[in-house]
Amino acid sequence: MAIFTVIIGVVLGLCLLSTFLLRWNEMKYKKKGLPPGTMGWPLFGETTDFLKQGPSFMKNQRASYGSVFKSHILGCPTIVSMDPELNRFILMNEGKGILPGYPQSMLDILGKSNIAAVHGSAHKNMRGALLSLVSPSIIREQILSKIDEFMRSHLLNWNNQIIDIQEKTKEMALLSSLRQISGTESSLLSKEFMREFFNLVVGTLSLPINLPNTNYHRGLQARKNIVRMLEELIDERRRSQETHKDMLGLLMSGVENRYKLSDEEMIDQIITILYSGYETVSTTSMMAVKYLHDHPRVLEELRKEHLGIRERKMAEDPLNWNDYKSMKFTRAVIFETSRLATIVNGVLRKTTKEMELNGFVIPEGWRIYVYTREINYDPCLYPDPYTFNPWRWLDRSLETQNYFFLFGGGTRQCPGKELGIAEISTFLHYFVTKYRWVEVGGDKLMKFPRVEAPNGLHIRVSDMPK
Ligand code: HEM
Repeated sequence: MAIFTVIIGVVLGLCLLSTFLLRWNEMKYKKKGLPPGTMGWPLFGETTDFLKQGPSFMKNQRASYGSVFKSHILGCPTIVSMDPELNRFILMNEGKGILPGYPQSMLDILGKSNIAAVHGSAHKNMRGALLSLVSPSIIREQILSKIDEFMRSHLLNWNNQIIDIQEKTKEMALLSSLRQISGTESSLLSKEFMREFFNLVVGTLSLPINLPNTNYHRGLQARKNIVRMLEELIDERRRSQETHKDMLGLLMSGVENRYKLSDEEMIDQIITILYSGYETVSTTSMMAVKYLHDHPRVLEELRKEHLGIRERKMAEDPLNWNDYKSMKFTRAVIFETSRLATIVNGVLRKTTKEMELNGFVIPEGWRIYVYTREINYDPCLYPDPYTFNPWRWLDRSLETQNYFFLFGGGTRQCPGKELGIAEISTFLHYFVTKYRWVEVGGDKLMKFPRVEAPNGLHIRVSDMPK
């Protein structure tokens, strides 16, 4: 009996304490003019619900509080905007004091000149320098042949193998970028670089507490090692005085760009290119393979497009710009994959001063989660939104509509969009013309907070019959 009373006492005590903590946290963030919403637990906020329930958490909050609500996620008081019009406004108005709001760990590890850490004229300079490296003419003249050469060798000897396509597309995204950055030296660098780079990526999404054996510590260490490798490469090139037709060569010569970057800026720029194109390109490629496997009619149409290109060429001819430009259905498959899988759920911003948005008053320093995921499933934009239907993208106006946020929008719209599409298209070209594949193992796919296959996505590959 006594034990029973103690248990009831403890349970009641915990209930009271929980109610008190939740109320206290609500009061702490009770400010006139803020949007409705809940703030969860002190310190942790609603992070656990957000990560566990993902999109349903967002939809439930929207059902209760409307398309703009407050929450406390990933360590910060946050305004979530699921309002397409407001999202567009935020992306277009960086100048009004809405800057990128990425986590501290990411800024520390990617470097203080990385593009997400700078704004105003510094952003203009870094972005201008980057755009000049990945312009359509540079892709046509220099990059496409490197991508082509890389994809051919990366896809060699997959016949009769069980391949983890997640692992292969990750390696592909990193090593293909490395080849574009430092053409001739990349194969010497790649092994050590890859190990460090994977630690760097994990570190960017960690708690920024620098203790041994933490992901953050390993990430900082990886950054140091990568910086050292790049510094050595730059020194070596200066000593040899050879000219190189690759991204580092262009950056060092400064000819393509009015603003000449310092060595530190060049290194942060290179890390930015590698980082920004890594998960986006690899995950889209993996998911394209998944959707093509599940939709034989789409695969047939895609293969027809690529076999048509091969028929016009000799077996060893590389893809050229006209081939790439003719891949209309492939582009549609890439957009549809990106939309249906929602490779990017949204982007993060923060306020640099108190401001009014949609009639609400947002305090200085709050994070804004420009959550674009739901737009991908809006039946007015995409009829029958849960069906994988690349044909919808053949109407090119879909790519230019106001709420096309697959690559962000406004002043920070993805500068690597065409490069990313060219990489995935080239990968698909060699993959579907060389091979057939079936899935093995029924691997699990996670859709939130990022799209990934926790145990890999395994396929059995065989040569296409001649
Ligand atoms: C399928 C592939 C890709 C997707 C879906 C994608 C998506 C995005 C999105 C949504 C943003 C906006 C971020 C924001 O507003 O905060 C962005 C920005 C950016 N992306 Fe991409 N991206 C892709 C490929 C690439 C590649 C290959 C590069 C390499 C050059 C790249 C470089 C960047 C950079 C540097 C930014 C920041 C731009 C700025 O702050 O001005 N992306 N990307």
